[in-house]
Amino acid sequence: MTWLITFLSILTIPVVAAAQPADKQNPRPQMFVTSGSCLACHNNLVTDSGQDVSIGSNWQSSMMAHSSRDPYWQASVRRETMAHPSAEKSIQDECSACHMPMTRYRSKVQGQKGSVFAHLPILPARGQAGLLAADGVSCSMCHQIQEDKLGTEDSFTAGFVVDSTTPLGKRSVFGPYDVDQGRTRIMQSASRMVPSTAAHVQDSTLCASCHTLYTHTRGPDGEVLGQLPEQVPYLEWKHSEYQDSKSCQSCHMPQLQQSMHISSVMGQPREDFSRHVFRGGNFFMPKIFNRFRQELGVSALSQDLALASQQTENHLKTSAASIELARVQNTGKMMAAEVTVINLAGHKLPTAYPSRRAWIRFTVSDAAGQVVFESGGLNPDGSIQGNVNDEHKDRFERHHTLITSPEQVQIYEAIMADPEGNVTTGLIQAIRFIKDNRILPKGFDKASAHPDIQVQGRAESDPDFTEPGDTIRYEITVDPDRGPFNVQAELLYQPIAFRWAKNLMEQQAAEITRFVGYYDSMAAQSWTVLAKDSRVVR
Ligand code: HEC
Ligand code: HEC
Ligand code: HEC
Ligand code: HEC
Ligand code: HEC
Repeated sequence: MTWLITFLSILTIPVVAAAQPADKQNPRPQMFVTSGSCLACHNNLVTDSGQDVSIGSNWQSSMMAHSSRDPYWQASVRRETMAHPSAEKSIQDECSACHMPMTRYRSKVQGQKGSVFAHLPILPARGQAGLLAADGVSCSMCHQIQEDKLGTEDSFTAGFVVDSTTPLGKRSVFGPYDVDQGRTRIMQSASRMVPSTAAHVQDSTLCASCHTLYTHTRGPDGEVLGQLPEQVPYLEWKHSEYQDSKSCQSCHMPQLQQSMHISSVMGQPREDFSRHVFRGGNFFMPKIFNRFRQELGVSALSQDLALASQQTENHLKTSAASIELARVQNTGKMMAAEVTVINLAGHKLPTAYPSRRAWIRFTVSDAAGQVVFESGGLNPDGSIQGNVNDEHKDRFERHHTLITSPEQVQIYEAIMADPEGNVTTGLIQAIRFIKDNRILPKGFDKASAHPDIQVQGRAESDPDFTEPGDTIRYEITVDPDRGPFNVQAELLYQPIAFRWAKNLMEQQAAEITRFVGYYDSMAAQSWTVLAKDSRVVR
């Protein structure tokens, strides 16, 4: 056996040596450090008015800091690998690329596949690889992404490039500012990383490397059949008006209106301080992290997670959408109204992970306050009343232009299908969207959209489904004697739709039972109101 190993080493050494002439003993330098090396100086940042804008603790309570602890992600990786056992290694590699990006990148440059389950449970973390896996999308991940390839297709689906040769102590972390020598040395000696000026960190293309995700579609034997544009908010944004005016950072890392020091050690006033809040739409998962913090190995402070969830809900209520009722009429026999929803976000609403959905709850109440009509009500288990997809997993609710019964509900969502056209929530089964009526952002021209971001299903031919919104008509019969009526329209939002949680149970595993258990126990808190409007009509 020894001769074989010696023989193999003779074969491999020259290759390694060519890539890494400086250090034959240790062919790859340590590329990443955990956030623990950064927090000491980038925390305790409080504005004059007392607002805590600490980079470290803001990031620590964000979804990205939890990307590997996320029990939904863990359950979902388990489901995909069980459904395609012959492709298990490739799927773990694929799913770790953004959710455990630092360990996976280390494996990638060593010519190996990334693994997921080897690093679970998150606590106790095993070795350097375990610590890096636990740290999720961390400081030294984002800040070491180089300009190479950014914005090109090669950079998508975690195709970012990180320096794999420079040793720790000399490695650059990129930021927007010029840092003087004294401050550079302070950070370098404490964290073994060197702050370096680079404008590309302020560009949307940095975010696009992970937020443009094509998943491989596989057949029953693990063979690749095609690909699905699973999450492409960057491409949606590129086709909108915002591409010239607002970057991902400008909405998701809002700037302070006052100058602020960026380090608590040797800080100095800096303009354009960007907050690391990364507020998106997921207010639900932080609640799960908080409630099941022990089992999930969560280290963010309880009050910080509660605040993150609360502020995400505020973000949704103030910045995501508006809704308006118009032409509300009661003819005596029929009550009619038009509801218009407008998307205020920089991409489709909802966007990104296809379990997200928004829908209209339209209610009419009589003079006594009793509901006489409701479309889009929510059940305590997280399902939507009248949504055929929540009742039958192989069917789905079409896009509507006119609603006349409580059995119909307008849901803005992406529904995926496998190569045979069957409805599925399996990321690796799915090859295309058969319904995509997610509300279009301002400036998004429906006709010229690339196939990967096209509107799918009936919304495509709905003339008033256009940027930046949709109008839908309601016509219902009411008993005229029960008026005056209160007509109310709300746009509701749920990050993890009922079907998406329930279908995981097609496979049986501990991670799946655990997550579905969490979902069931907190389903009543799984949704929120984005916007509402109401009218009284006689
Ligand atoms: C290219 C980067 C990338 C890859 C590769 C990737 N993801 Fe994700 N994933 C994301 C991003 C970004 C989000 C969050 C988007 C959002 O919030 O809507 C996400 C969200 C999720 C969520 C929802 C989590 C929640 O709390 O709601 C699940 C589940 C998930 N991913 C599963 C997977 C699985 C399974 C794989 C492998 C097949 C995978 N991901 C591969 C980037 C990636
Ligand atoms: C998801 C990617 C991402 C992660 C994770 C991240 N940053 Fe940043 N950071 C950025 C971007 C982008 C900017 C520049 C924002 C701009 O100017 O538009 C930035 C800016 C900064 C700045 C300059 C001051 C400021 O806020 O504008 C510092 C310092 C910094 N980051 C430190 C950190 C530390 C420390 C961590 C970990 C606790 C961290 N970052 C995590 C993306 C990230
Ligand atoms: C000993 C304190 C200290 C530690 C530890 C530290 N930094 Fe810094 N960092 C600084 C100082 C000081 C500055 C410069 C402040 C200034 O110029 O206003 C800075 C600046 C930065 C910048 C802005 C660079 C630019 O050019 O815009 C980033 C990004 C950054 N740090 C990230 C990190 C990351 C990532 C880590 C962990 C790997 C880290 N820092 C660890 C003190 C520290
Ligand atoms: C004009 C402001 C704006 C811009 C620009 C913007 N976003 Fe958003 N984004 C929002 C709002 C508001 C939400 C919450 C509503 C929603 O989910 O769409 C959001 C939600 C998200 C979510 C979470 C979706 C979910 O519900 O799970 C992700 C991921 C995201 N944005 C990524 C990006 C990326 C990547 C870019 C740049 C290509 C970007 N955003 C540009 C405003 C913006
Ligand atoms: C290394 C990959 C990576 C990079 C780079 C990255 N993200 Fe993320 N991002 C993720 C993953 C993975 C998640 C989902 C975590 C989860 O849900 O488990 C996520 C989640 C988010 C969310 C939360 C969405 C929600 O549902 O609330 C926002 C907002 C976001 N990212 C914004 C950004 C912005 C802005 C940038 C660029 C400055 C960026 N991201 C860069 C991987 C990345």
